[in-house]
Amino acid sequence: MAQKMLFILLSHIMLCFSVVSSLNLNASLIDDLGVPKFNHICDPARFNMLGFDIAEFAFCDKSLPYEVRAKDLVDRMTLAEKADQMGHGTSVGIPRIALPPYNWWSEALHGVSNTGPGTHFDSVVPGATSFPTVILTAAAFNQTLWKTIGKVVSTEARAMYNLGRAGLTFWSPNINVVRDPRWGRTLETPGEDPLVVGLYAVNYVRGLQDIEGQENTSDPNSRPLKVSACCKHFAAYDLDNHDGLDRYRFDAKVVAEQDMVETFNRPFEMCVKDGDVSSVMCSYNRVNSIPTCADSYLLKKLVREDWNLHGYIVSDCDSIKEIVERQKWLNDTVEEASAQVLKAGFLVKAVKQGKVGAADMDKSLNYLYVVLMRLGFFDGIPSLASLGKNDICSEENTELAAEAARQGIVLLQNDNETLPLDPAKFKSLALIGPHANATGVMKGNYAGIPCKFISPLEAFSALGQVTYELGCDVKCSNYSTVQSAVDVAKNADATLLFVGLNLDVEAESRDRDNLLLPGYQTHLVNKVAEASKGPVILVVMSATALDISFAKINPKIKSILWVGYPGEQGGRAIADVVFGNYNPGGRLPLTWYEANYVDKLPMTSMSLRPVGKYPGRTYKFFNGTTIYPFGYGLSYTSFKYEYNSAEMSLDIKLNRLLHCHNLPYNDTNYKQNCPSVLIDDLTCDDEIAFEITVQNVGHRDGSDVVLVYSVPPEEVTGTHIKQLVGFERVFLQANESKNVKFVLNACQSLNIVDVSGYRLLPSGSHKIVVGDNVISIPVKVSYSL
Ligand SMILES: *[C@@H]1O[C@H](CO)[C@@H](O)[C@H](O)[C@H]1NC(C)=O
Ligand SMILES: *[C@@H]1O[C@H](CO)[C@@H](O)[C@H](O)[C@H]1NC(C)=O
Ligand SMILES: *[C@@H]1O[C@H](CO)[C@@H](O)[C@H](O)[C@H]1NC(C)=O
Ligand SMILES: *[C@@H]1O[C@H](CO)[C@@H](O)[C@H](O)[C@H]1NC(C)=O
Ligand SMILES: *[C@@H]1O[C@H](CO)[C@@H](O)[C@H](O)[C@H]1NC(C)=O
Ligand SMILES: *[C@@H]1O[C@H](CO)[C@@H](O)[C@H](O)[C@H]1NC(C)=O
Ligand SMILES: *[C@@H]1O[C@H](CO)[C@@H](O)[C@H](O)[C@H]1NC(C)=O
Ligand SMILES: *[C@@H]1O[C@H](CO)[C@@H](O)[C@H](O)[C@H]1NC(C)=O
Ligand SMILES: *[C@@H]1O[C@H](CO)[C@@H](O)[C@H](O)[C@H]1NC(C)=O
Ligand SMILES: *[C@@H]1O[C@H](CO)[C@@H](O)[C@H](O)[C@H]1NC(C)=O
Repeated sequence: MAQKMLFILLSHIMLCFSVVSSLNLNASLIDDLGVPKFNHICDPARFNMLGFDIAEFAFCDKSLPYEVRAKDLVDRMTLAEKADQMGHGTSVGIPRIALPPYNWWSEALHGVSNTGPGTHFDSVVPGATSFPTVILTAAAFNQTLWKTIGKVVSTEARAMYNLGRAGLTFWSPNINVVRDPRWGRTLETPGEDPLVVGLYAVNYVRGLQDIEGQENTSDPNSRPLKVSACCKHFAAYDLDNHDGLDRYRFDAKVVAEQDMVETFNRPFEMCVKDGDVSSVMCSYNRVNSIPTCADSYLLKKLVREDWNLHGYIVSDCDSIKEIVERQKWLNDTVEEASAQVLKAGFLVKAVKQGKVGAADMDKSLNYLYVVLMRLGFFDGIPSLASLGKNDICSEENTELAAEAARQGIVLLQNDNETLPLDPAKFKSLALIGPHANATGVMKGNYAGIPCKFISPLEAFSALGQVTYELGCDVKCSNYSTVQSAVDVAKNADATLLFVGLNLDVEAESRDRDNLLLPGYQTHLVNKVAEASKGPVILVVMSATALDISFAKINPKIKSILWVGYPGEQGGRAIADVVFGNYNPGGRLPLTWYEANYVDKLPMTSMSLRPVGKYPGRTYKFFNGTTIYPFGYGLSYTSFKYEYNSAEMSLDIKLNRLLHCHNLPYNDTNYKQNCPSVLIDDLTCDDEIAFEITVQNVGHRDGSDVVLVYSVPPEEVTGTHIKQLVGFERVFLQANESKNVKFVLNACQSLNIVDVSGYRLLPSGSHKIVVGDNVISIPVKVSYSL
């Protein structure tokens, strides 16, 4: 979010205002600690206290549908009051109708955060559970974990709301696909694969929003919400500040419809359709020269109509101002820009100038208040009313934060089974490097105040005799302090080197320009490794990919772990993995490119496919060599896959309404009677079902992530190399075997997106590939009359 506080809310329109949310209209409505006496508005006693008779306010009549009640509320407001409610100015509530102030902006990216002014910590609630940053949690490839974290975060959020410390609308998660490894906000996201990002969004949003037993009410517009989530930033937003260009002025172009459908929009589509999210935020950038917040095709046609959003659309802070001041979109005045946004969704002052219809504004307010009604802001939600202090930072929640970090940590190298360390053999440990005593850095951005930190230094000190040396800080701009680190490594049974990045290097408004460890960190690692008496374990704390080939080839460095930014319990999770209390099973959610990758293409090139001299992006389109590929990760045990069925085939009957589409082939002699059909035209009830037997053939219990990809017919040109279509994390004891069943929808899993944005199911020889090409199952698709 930016500093300037002009704000927008579209269908919508709000300002990033700074009033703390509470149900307080009158000092007598809160106790000495600022805890509201009423946790919902429509309590007759509250109205009495304010000198009103609740019966006179239809918006409190529970027998009426939410939309009718919201309309009654909006109809009572003057134009100025309406504008106030949308954050155009400071919302102070409307005492006249007993409506309290409400701040729409809270955040809960990986724990309740105080980044938004709607939430704050103080002596009543000093902290909340701080989970790992999303990029690490994504690496667990465990949908149950993602949803469980969402549930715990919403429980803590709701408890904080009851205590008057938080709002109910949380502008999380960030589900932009990581197109380029330089992007500073990679830590906030689930990585580069649209399916992983989409499934993360669906699970996290359901964990935040769903109230158990009421997930599937027949009317989605009255479905109760635990808290309201927001999928952001729509769309094609993934550049913050690069080479003199910032996100406010960035015109993402040319963005091909093919990439919109296949990559940029897909997680948002899943979030809205499958997650039933109650809010979507449009982004700062332009797409093909149109500001996203003024693009009625994206907002109105796609999000609201095609995907059927049940909720509101909000613009990122300042984006209207940015449209005017920096993007110079059509030379707009603020009112005109707002009108643009309103036509896509809506606006405020422009109403007075006749540039925007008041009815549009009413409709936008209606969307907002219906969401607040679903949240129980007006009527309360009895099952959530008793949540309080004991539900925040509980032992169970702290344990889940540690568990999430353990599940996400990726073992990248482990020569000669150096890890796990046997504590009886490795008694003295050297802990060296900028992150050896990491605390705050482990929480990343959009964090709150954690319940408690456990740094690596603290965790390892509890398990052995530890000597600590900083070596140098993250920027490591000189190596004057390297020698004392070298001396420590000379005498320890094992050396743990904690290197990587932090928010000074990769963050919102801060993209990277290389894929290297900063400053002299490489020098620190090499010097310490050279001098070490015992084996060297390299622990990399970062969100994005790093070229650590120098460490891979250093024979002294036996093991490498990537730990993301692992949250408040990070130190404990790392120690659990190093000493074998937990067998790592995480997989990289990003391709780790070689350092020269970023010299081969500008960050501003939006295409996922190779264009001209530029290589492709992500594992789906990049065919070059990597440091580590997407999905990479080792274990302390080994797994074997078996598959026993024959090839699969799918014959689809054509009828007079099904039309065949041509596809570009690599060979003019290659023919198919019907190259492909639009998946929207097919009934798409064909399933590809198969079972893989996974066996733990090693000596330790552990978890494996079974990754399933589809590969289109080889003759079809211009398509992805492969695409992830399913995954499952499974736990297996040593020697145990399990059958893992996959049931894939043929249309969803075998489709390709053509240049014009059509989703097509090609005929020909597809393949389902499991793991790193361990199993390849042919799937023949044909069309017949
Ligand atoms: C607050 O409520 C009390 C009674 O409950 C009333 O006397 C007082 O005027 C109210 N204050 C304001 C500012 O409305
Ligand atoms: C709601 O629907 C989903 C999918 O349609 C289903 O998996 C889930 O069990 C349902 N929940 C309830 C409580 O009925
Ligand atoms: C915007 O205004 C400037 C200065 O008034 C003018 O030179 C320019 O042509 C205008 N641009 C557009 C697109 O109207
Ligand atoms: C593993 O250990 C063996 C025997 O000690 C040694 O020869 C080999 O070089 C080691 N391999 C690596 C990669 O360290
Ligand atoms: C480790 O970090 C904590 C928290 O920042 C600090 O209080 C402590 O002094 C540090 N320990 C050492 C040995 O530097
Ligand atoms: C080297 O870094 C240390 C802190 O890491 C700093 O105090 C010192 O001034 C630096 N020296 C030079 C020559 O930059
Ligand atoms: C990789 O893709 C490039 C296009 O970016 C192509 O020229 C090259 O032949 C491909 N290499 C392999 C090994 O497929
Ligand atoms: C087209 O691709 C197929 C499958 O990879 C290959 O066998 C064939 O040689 C290719 N044809 C041409 C003309 O490149
Ligand atoms: C997935 O996460 C859940 C929730 O933390 C956990 O209970 C389960 O064991 C995990 N699955 C695997 C295979 O690790
Ligand atoms: C695994 O199976 C092998 C051979 O069947 C056996 O020797 C070994 O003891 C078993 N290991 C465990 C941990 O059960």
